[in-house]
Amino acid sequence: MMRGLYDRITAAYAAHRRPDPRIAAKIAAAVGRCDSVVNVGAGLGAYEPKHCAVLAVEPSFEMLRRRPRAAAPAVQAVAGRLPFKNGSFDAALAVLTIHHWPDWRAGLAELRRVARQRVVIVTYDPEHSGFWLVEDYLPEIRTIDRRIFPSLRDFESELGPLTVDALPVPADCVDGFLGAYWRRPAEYLQPSVREAISSFSQIDWRDGIERLRVDLSTGRWSERNRALLELAELDIGYRLIEARCS
Ligand SMILES: C[S@@+](CC[C@H](N)C(=O)[O-])C[C@H]1O[C@@H](n2cnc3c(N)ncnc32)[C@H](O)[C@@H]1O
Repeated sequence: MMRGLYDRITAAYAAHRRPDPRIAAKIAAAVGRCDSVVNVGAGLGAYEPKHCAVLAVEPSFEMLRRRPRAAAPAVQAVAGRLPFKNGSFDAALAVLTIHHWPDWRAGLAELRRVARQRVVIVTYDPEHSGFWLVEDYLPEIRTIDRRIFPSLRDFESELGPLTVDALPVPADCVDGFLGAYWRRPAEYLQPSVREAISSFSQIDWRDGIERLRVDLSTGRWSERNRALLELAELDIGYRLIEARCS
């Protein structure tokens, strides 16, 4: 049987996907004061709150095996079928994982079912546009993202009224997700950087990345994106969503 994506890319993930402290602070604030959190699609444990008891849920054997010793205890399970009784946790957290769930509606219903107080989600708004990497070099990512990421309206219809905050990406973001290198374009030329980003495993990126390489060497990229070089952070569509459980 073919191993899952995250079983194959765990080493690159461990090298490039470390929690960014500024994003971590915003997630911790959204989780707020609570005693227990279930972190679904937990990966290697990035963004697990430190101020309360956390239980991680993760389907990938390799991700589970490589979780740091200090990370929260974890169980192997999928979002669509959480092995917990109703209301087992104060909060449910899911960071950059929902687009991988085969049935995200079932997963959101499970988050709601097991959380007593709130559900906190970090995701990408598929209706947002304007990130140069996608617009100018890899437009096929936009097509895929529109298919796999629920819209904000979808979240609202599953979870009820939401608080939605933009999650701008710092120019020196530590966590190497797709948008992390918006001001460091040469990073996308590195194979291990691309390997740690699931979008690259879903497309043929070769022509787009070759065009980026040429544009960087001729100075065309800098000409077109000069305004970005002044910015310390940029909103490229990542969103922090909070839903209260009634
Ligand atoms: C981009 S990683 C995010 C990991 C972690 N939350 C973080 O922020 O670093 C996506 C994670 O979702 C997990 N995942 C994939 N399908 C899932 C499912 N059906 N239920 C729960 N987690 C899933 C993957 O194994 C992977 O660890």
